[in-house]
Amino acid sequence: MTDKANIIQLIKSRRSIRQFQQRPIPTEVLIDCVDCARLAPSAMNLQPLEYMLVTAPELVERVFPHLAWAGYIRPYGNPEPGNLPVAYLIVLINKNRIKSRYANDVGAAVENFILAAWSFGIGTCWIGTIERTQLRQLLAIPEDFEVDSVIACGYPAESPVLEEKDDDVRYWKDEGRVFHVPKRPLKSVLHINKW
Ligand SMILES: Cc1cc2nc3c(=O)[nH]c(=O)nc-3n(C[C@H](O)[C@H](O)[C@H](O)COP(=O)(O)O)c2cc1C
Repeated sequence: MTDKANIIQLIKSRRSIRQFQQRPIPTEVLIDCVDCARLAPSAMNLQPLEYMLVTAPELVERVFPHLAWAGYIRPYGNPEPGNLPVAYLIVLINKNRIKSRYANDVGAAVENFILAAWSFGIGTCWIGTIERTQLRQLLAIPEDFEVDSVIACGYPAESPVLEEKDDDVRYWKDEGRVFHVPKRPLKSVLHINKW
């Protein structure tokens, strides 16, 4: 396969992972993924984002209770005991550098991180439902940083299945505990030259 085909395949094959192997991720690999986030586009090149990696097992354990998983099927999408994330990326917005369009910066940076991680075979789940006050206290995050989101990381212990589906956006788990993720078909979302 060409490099280009590999990148397309990487993007298309990424799914959110919520069941993880307990194998540790080398810290230098996670740092390389953060480096990819750092290099993402940023409105007015303000670069308001900073990142905290949580890799120490005793701290990783204490982050987990502050996160919520797979809201449509709660609690069935939760990581099962023995399948918890092994590391987290905490995405922080420096409020002193915020201007109006920072939200797009987060999207670009996090997607870079997630795709870089996937290129190393690392699964991720982007988590926005967070007990922010408790997490800030736990990690001693300074007040001038907003906790935007948390990216749970680990080698996958599941293989979610993509479903081309336009009538319902809710993902589901089947009786074999396989996660199914509906995506609106290309023909439903793409308009070429006319609506
Ligand atoms: C900004 C954002 C916040 C999200 N928050 C959560 C969350 O709190 N908990 C969770 O389990 N998944 C969360 N997700 C993951 C989505 O549920 C997931 O991306 C979606 O179901 C599509 O699945 P896919 O990532 O496998 O394509 C979030 C995704 C994004 C982009």
